[in-house]
Amino acid sequence: MSAVGELAAEVVGRCRELARISEEPGRLTRPFGSPAMARANALVGGWMREAGMAVRVDAAGNLVGHLPGSDPEAGTLLLGSHLDTVRDAGAFDGPLGVLAAVAAVARLRAEDVGFPFAVDVLGFSDEEGLRFGTAYLGSRAVAETLDPATLALADAAGVTVREALAAFGEDVGAAARRGECLLGYVELHIEQGPVLEERDAPVGVVTAIAGATRAEVTFTGRAGHAGTVPMALRRDAACAVAELVLAVEAAARAEPGLVATVGRLTALPGAPNVVPGEATASLDVRHADDAVRTVAVARIRAAAEEIGARRGVEPAWEERLTAPAVAMDTGLSEALGSAVAELGLPDVRLPSGAGHDAVALASLAPVAMLFVRCAGGVSHHPDESVEVADVAVALEVLDRFLRGCASRVSSR
Ligand code: GLV
Ligand code: MN
Ligand code: MN
Repeated sequence: MSAVGELAAEVVGRCRELARISEEPGRLTRPFGSPAMARANALVGGWMREAGMAVRVDAAGNLVGHLPGSDPEAGTLLLGSHLDTVRDAGAFDGPLGVLAAVAAVARLRAEDVGFPFAVDVLGFSDEEGLRFGTAYLGSRAVAETLDPATLALADAAGVTVREALAAFGEDVGAAARRGECLLGYVELHIEQGPVLEERDAPVGVVTAIAGATRAEVTFTGRAGHAGTVPMALRRDAACAVAELVLAVEAAARAEPGLVATVGRLTALPGAPNVVPGEATASLDVRHADDAVRTVAVARIRAAAEEIGARRGVEPAWEERLTAPAVAMDTGLSEALGSAVAELGLPDVRLPSGAGHDAVALASLAPVAMLFVRCAGGVSHHPDESVEVADVAVALEVLDRFLRGCASRVSSR
């Protein structure tokens, strides 16, 4: 196996090793601020140190590996992705980007290549939003775009974002990188879709990331005895939420390009012989065009109101995230595309329907992303997998990209 092949095999092996660190036995679940996240940071932090980086956890729980440059005026290039996961996740969504960046740094150090600029590898603490139903807490802290409404959101146990962040320091503002000379943020990630496989390409350069809205819709009716309350007199919150799920599906099917999902449902008090008095649906709506998404969200909200009024159950709507569609930086994307072309590979450009930390960092620095083909386009599922050979290609692209950045910065 070639040296880069060995490095790629190590990256894939490390992703699998990291996937054993979970909050739930038998499946990978690593939410923001959990003990599993602390263990993941410790493991990846050790690999960062081995690669020659100084390591810290910032005030938002992000893991930061720092490789200084030779010229303190030359700024910092940010690389990385996230280390948190969805529930019952695969091993590569997030960690691949962090561990590929660590491997890229290790390779440069092994070959004694120095840069004028510093390189920071970031392992973001919350991209998925599993705990708070939002997203990008870690990267938004770095971009200084965490708003008071987000800080006030609570998890299932009633702990707010603000309280959870306090575990990492008194002031989350300390994680912000605004005002620094940042050359850009480049994120490598599995594609999570089937396009690269269809195009027979190991990697592709991302053009833009679709916008997203997340919300929690709670219906409040009246709990009662399952054996005695006649059907006509019920105010069953679970029935209302069931109607909403189908209204969400219908709204998405009616609009080309729109995807909308209810991924979490709860009915309370949660006993087989009690009519549910309260029921909650999570909502995730995405489209490449923000205007289309906004109209769709308004329609779904109107449907929730109509269902609630007809059934005598009160709907409450809590918006948890609004993230606009984000275009990638042309210069950085062209540099990635040239590196792909130099390797004699098809220069595939593709949009991302999935969200990424690059969305949050786009307000701070130019951003670009490189996708790596994944088997069957499967993601957010334990079957997620990548080929070592594809990761080797991605490492080659990253290496060429980094060396190219160095020559561009030196010739400025
Ligand atoms: C992150 O994976 C998202 O797109 O939800
Ligand atoms: Mn994900
Ligand atoms: Mn991801």
